[in-house]
Amino acid sequence: MAHNFEYYTPTRIIFGRNTEDKVADLIKRYGGSRVLLHYGGQSAIKSGLIDRVKKSLDDAGLFHVELGGVVPNPQLSKVRTGVGLGNLNQIDFVLAVGGGSVIDSSKAIACALAELEVFDVWDLYDHKRKPTACLPIGVILTIAAAGSEMSDSSVITNDETNTKRGCHSSLFRPKFAIMNPELTFTLPDYQTACGCVDIMMHTMERYFTNGGNMEITDNIAEGLMRTVMRHAKILVTDPINYESRAEIMWASSLSHNGLTGCGNGGNDFASHSLEHELSGMFGVAHGAGLAAIWGSWARYVYKDCLPRFKKFALNVMQVEDAGSDEEIALKGIEAVENFYREIKMPTSLKELGIEPTDSQLVEMAHRCAVAVGGSRGSAKKLFEEDMLKIYQSANGIN
Ligand code: NZQ
Ligand code: ZN
Repeated sequence: MAHNFEYYTPTRIIFGRNTEDKVADLIKRYGGSRVLLHYGGQSAIKSGLIDRVKKSLDDAGLFHVELGGVVPNPQLSKVRTGVGLGNLNQIDFVLAVGGGSVIDSSKAIACALAELEVFDVWDLYDHKRKPTACLPIGVILTIAAAGSEMSDSSVITNDETNTKRGCHSSLFRPKFAIMNPELTFTLPDYQTACGCVDIMMHTMERYFTNGGNMEITDNIAEGLMRTVMRHAKILVTDPINYESRAEIMWASSLSHNGLTGCGNGGNDFASHSLEHELSGMFGVAHGAGLAAIWGSWARYVYKDCLPRFKKFALNVMQVEDAGSDEEIALKGIEAVENFYREIKMPTSLKELGIEPTDSQLVEMAHRCAVAVGGSRGSAKKLFEEDMLKIYQSANGIN
């Protein structure tokens, strides 16, 4: 059954080699004249990208100030620094050069700078306040993963409380995203793999639902997931394969701009909520955290969403159509875990490199339940006690 839906993806995509050369023209096109150039640690400096961007802005006569140092799982303290810097320099455009962390930090800063009222930016993530304005944001993407370049989300960690929370608003969707697959050649293998897991998961979170689905959306989703797996495996041994980098990069945007959930009547996203507590408390990479928790989540919920797990097993993981529906579904789950292992991703908390204590598992389940307002999930509605059982299972406790 096709549910009613709204699909809004206003971001202009400029895709391919050397497209970053167009950045200054694009900023001007969207009304920018005073730019905050926001980036992460060292990668974009080392590759020379930041110097090239600064030169482009200088050549175009665009005023700019820079703020680097965004860390993975971006922090509230850096957002506050950016808001201060932006106000001081009357910034009217935020340019994010990096991945999900830099883009999400840029969204928080751009929103706080555009609002007329002075407020604590954490209120947006604590759901005490909704965004009502946002400066235009542009992106030069350097890692294919989070899909933030087209998404309506921003995820920030409060570094005083280690609480990681998301804020969603269509105002957050960037005006443009420049996507040159060559810029991802320098990614460490681990980050490439984390990104591929996250891309898979953004579509899986929309696929495992009990709401009813559209054939066209399912076919797009299944094709996207098969493509991501195929090219993720190629990148393990051939990380500078342009075609594979291009496929993965475009998949990252399509997987999280809403396309793969149209008409499904509601997403699951429980694995994401469970993961956000892991990266909030232990600072793990988002994609690796998802891989470590997913199998435990899937085995906990699959009986409540059996037709979808069976369809996924047959059409995406291409398991043999033999045995009971449950057996086929379980083979599909196993095949996903084998794929994660093949790209060197963890399938348990231990493999993720963390060993939470029993009380930390209880605390994460509690925080997760609070963050989602009590329950979350479409494949199966999960409450705090369910969340705890999934964390325990991922931690090797049955
Ligand atoms: O800081 P630098 O030195 O740039 O290093 C980064 C970072 O260590 C490195 N990197 C990025 N591009 C590179 C590179 N290294 C070499 N060459 C390059 N070209 O990669 C590391 C990870 O970067 P990050 O931006 O953290 O990765 P990702 O894009 O996976 O973003 C993760 C964040 O996005 C959030 C996650 O929770 C996490 O905080 N998410 C945001 C979403 C959204 N806004 O829609 C949805 C997602 O589900 C996710 O929750
Ligand atoms: Zn994600």
